[in-house]
Amino acid sequence: MKRYVITGGAGFIGSNIAATLLRQSDTDVVIVDDFSSGDWRNLIPLDCEVRAADCDDPHLLAEIAAGEYHGVFHEAAITDTTVMDQRRMVEVNTNAFKSLLEATAASSTRLVYASSAGTYGNSAAPNAIGRGEQPENIYGFSKLAMDRIASRFYARHHGGIVGLRYFNVYGPGEHHKHERNGNNTASMMLQLYMKAKAGEQLRLFKYGEQQRDFVYIRDVIDANLEAMNGTLSGVCNVGSGRARCFNDAVTILGDALGQSFDVEYFDNPFSFYQMHTEADLSETQRILDWQPTCTLETGMRDYIQRLELGQRGPLDGVHD
Ligand SMILES: NC(=O)c1ccc[n+]([C@@H]2O[C@H](COP(=O)([O-])OP(=O)(O)OC[C@H]3O[C@@H](n4cnc5c(N)ncnc54)[C@H](O)[C@@H]3O)[C@@H](O)[C@H]2O)c1
Repeated sequence: MKRYVITGGAGFIGSNIAATLLRQSDTDVVIVDDFSSGDWRNLIPLDCEVRAADCDDPHLLAEIAAGEYHGVFHEAAITDTTVMDQRRMVEVNTNAFKSLLEATAASSTRLVYASSAGTYGNSAAPNAIGRGEQPENIYGFSKLAMDRIASRFYARHHGGIVGLRYFNVYGPGEHHKHERNGNNTASMMLQLYMKAKAGEQLRLFKYGEQQRDFVYIRDVIDANLEAMNGTLSGVCNVGSGRARCFNDAVTILGDALGQSFDVEYFDNPFSFYQMHTEADLSETQRILDWQPTCTLETGMRDYIQRLELGQRGPLDGVHD
C-alpha cells in the first residue's frame, strides 16, 4: 500500500488530489488540515484519515522523517492573497515548508508542493522560471521564498522535490472560496456562474480584456501525480500555456447556459492587478511527463455541467 500525506487536503486542490489517489486500489491517504480556509464538505466523498493539525505538526514531521509515507503533497498555505500580515504569511507558508523539506530529506520521501504564478507579479508574459520573478504582494513573495529554499535542498534530497507554480485554477471543490468571510477568492468561472444563476448583472473590470492563464483542476491533478511519479527535482509552471481574456469566459458561460449576457464594465479599483499571465511550459516539459489537455472551452463546459448537476465536491470516480 502506498500511503501519502496531503497537507491542505480539505481545500480545493488538495481534496481533488486526494479523491484521485483514493481511486487507486493500492493507495491510502492521510489528510492534514488546520481548517483555516478549507471545508469539511470537500472531505465527504473521501474515505481516508483526516487530521486537524498544522502542516508542520511535530508528530507528522516525525512520521515523515521516519519514512512512513511514500510521498507528501504540500498544498497547505494561506491562500487569500489579500492577507497583508507579512510575518504570519511567511510563518505559515514558508517556515512550515522548510520543516517539511527537512523531514522529507531525512527519509528521502518525495515532496511535491504548491508554488504560484503570484511569484511573477506583473512581469511580462509569457512567464518563465528564472525570469521576471517580481512578486507584488507578500503571498507571492512567500511562494518565491519556498522555491528558493527548496532549490537549496535539491542536491541532498534523494527523494526529490518538485514545486508547481499553479496559474489560475478553476473547477469543482472550490465552493468554500465563494462563501468564506465575504471575501470571494473563488475562480472567475465560479463567480460568474453564481451571479448568472442568481440573475445578477455580470460585471467585469473595464473592458474585460485582461488576460489570464486559466487551468482546469483535472490538468492540475494530473500534473501533481506526474510530479510525484517522476524522479527529477525543480520548479515548473502549471498552466494551460495559453492566456484567455475575461470576456472569453463570459462568452463560454453564455454558450454553456444557453444565455447571452450584457456585461457591465467598471473601473478596476486595484493599484496592483495582473493584466496578462501565461505559463511558459518549457521547464515543465523538462521536469514532468505532463502537458495540459483542457482548453478554456472544454474545462469550463465540464465544470458548468457538474455545477448544473449540483456537484460541488472534488472530482471523483463516481462522477467522472
Ligand atoms: N487555486 C489557485 O488558483 C492557486 C493558484 C496558485 C497557487 N495555489 C496554491 O495551491 C495550494 C492549494 O490552494 P487551494 O486553491 O486549494 O486553496 P484552499 O484555500 O482551498 O486550500 C488550502 C488549504 O490549506 C489549509 N491550511 C492553511 N494553512 C494551513 C496550515 N498551516 N496547516 C494545515 N493546513 C492549512 C486550509 O484550511 C485549506 O484547506 C496553496 O498552496 C495555494 O497557495 C492555488
